[in-house]
Amino acid sequence: MLTIFWTLSYILLVVRFSIAENSTNLSKRGLVYIGTSHPSDYQLFTSRSSPLTWYYTFATWPALSHSSLDFAPMIHGTLDAADAVPSIKSMASSGGITHVLVYNEPDGSTESGGSNLTPDDAARTYLDTIAPLRDAPYNLKMSLPSTTGSPNGLNWLREFNSSCHNITSGGCPSDFLAAHWYGGFPGLASWLGTLHQLYPTLPIWLTEFALPAFPENITYDFVNQTISYLDQLDYVERYSYFGTFRREAANNFTGPNVAMLDDSGSLTRIGALYLGGNQTGFAVGMKGMGGRTEPVLSWLALAVAVVTAIILA
Ligand SMILES: *[C@@H]1O[C@H](CO)[C@@H](O)[C@H](O)[C@H]1NC(C)=O
Ligand SMILES: *[C@@H]1O[C@H](CO)[C@@H](O)[C@H](O)[C@H]1NC(C)=O
Ligand SMILES: *[C@@H]1O[C@H](CO)[C@@H](O)[C@H](O)[C@H]1NC(C)=O
Ligand SMILES: *[C@@H]1O[C@H](CO)[C@@H](O)[C@H](O)[C@H]1NC(C)=O
Ligand SMILES: *[C@@H]1O[C@H](CO)[C@@H](O)[C@H](O)[C@H]1NC(C)=O
Ligand SMILES: *[C@@H]1O[C@H](CO)[C@@H](O)[C@H](O)[C@H]1NC(C)=O
Ligand SMILES: *[C@@H]1O[C@H](CO)[C@@H](O)[C@H](O)[C@H]1NC(C)=O
Ligand SMILES: *[C@@H]1O[C@H](CO)[C@@H](O)[C@H](O)[C@H]1NC(C)=O
Repeated sequence: MLTIFWTLSYILLVVRFSIAENSTNLSKRGLVYIGTSHPSDYQLFTSRSSPLTWYYTFATWPALSHSSLDFAPMIHGTLDAADAVPSIKSMASSGGITHVLVYNEPDGSTESGGSNLTPDDAARTYLDTIAPLRDAPYNLKMSLPSTTGSPNGLNWLREFNSSCHNITSGGCPSDFLAAHWYGGFPGLASWLGTLHQLYPTLPIWLTEFALPAFPENITYDFVNQTISYLDQLDYVERYSYFGTFRREAANNFTGPNVAMLDDSGSLTRIGALYLGGNQTGFAVGMKGMGGRTEPVLSWLALAVAVVTAIILA
């Protein structure tokens, strides 16, 4: 009798741990925090079974400081660099951060959320104010600017590099490259390839991507194809889909079909997929904490088996 119950317990343990083991590389996946009038929506993204590992807020402000997600502060433009540095230093000293995102869409207008910087200003501020954070005692990893995914973006990056080299022969020392893409999958793959060719030694963080203004079914297929691709692409270190909000909060450029949440805060098909779907226990329509409950149940079953075995012995 006892042998049977110990065998049963062993099987339950194995099942419990194989459920917990992720079969895909979900660990790169993160969250773009755009602000919300429904803060409880974020419980889905930060719950214990959520596969998301990191997030950013376009600022040095860690909006989800109670969660286990890694926070990456951003220095949005040159004007806020001086103010951003002291809070980044203090977060680095307390061991809270490892990476800093530098400049949001410097080739883009401020109306569309860009920082509208000349490559030369950007390079000067980078070298004077930002790059020293790479040194001891902070030792932070700094990104190259995330431009728009466009020929303008590429030109801006090239000019930034040339400005850096004009100012100092070593150029602007950087540790990774942040990138954005809005459009279909072939263009996304090609944009990443172009950036990788330009900076072959730097890992890439794709910090915004989406397929704007397409029907839901096509948008879903895009996300499905893209995240599988990013999960297996060695030089992509982290990525975050631009859709962690309700349909009603989407901007006019992306349109509502990119959203991970419907207007009541429940997961859309894309939302369930991005949170790992059946693998992690997130289903369409879920809201609140969401996620898998099997580990708790299997531990409970194990406890019952052990107690029964002891009673019977
Ligand atoms: C599984 O996920 C964890 C944490 O999210 C990560 O550290 C680990 O590398 C992942 N394993 C594989 C095989 O991707
Ligand atoms: C940056 O500029 C230097 C000096 O002109 C050049 O050697 C290097 O190839 C450039 N790198 C990129 C990525 O443009
Ligand atoms: C770098 O310096 C060269 C030579 O002085 C100049 O022609 C070029 O325009 C400068 N590039 C930038 C981006 O400032
Ligand atoms: C996507 O949905 C639209 C209706 O919203 C339909 O007309 C179209 O055929 C669907 N496309 C595919 C590829 O399923
Ligand atoms: C999602 O992508 C995976 C991997 O590319 C593929 O096997 C699967 O069929 C796709 N799922 C849907 C619903 O299209
Ligand atoms: C996980 O990532 C590694 C290295 O990037 C890759 O070789 C492997 O194919 C990926 N696995 C899956 C299931 O995507
Ligand atoms: C979207 O466009 C409509 C009509 O042009 C406008 O009234 C609305 O304010 C815009 N919404 C956003 C978020 O820009
Ligand atoms: C989960 O599995 C069900 C049934 O197999 C399937 O219909 C659904 O599309 C899956 N959901 C995700 C997000 O993969």
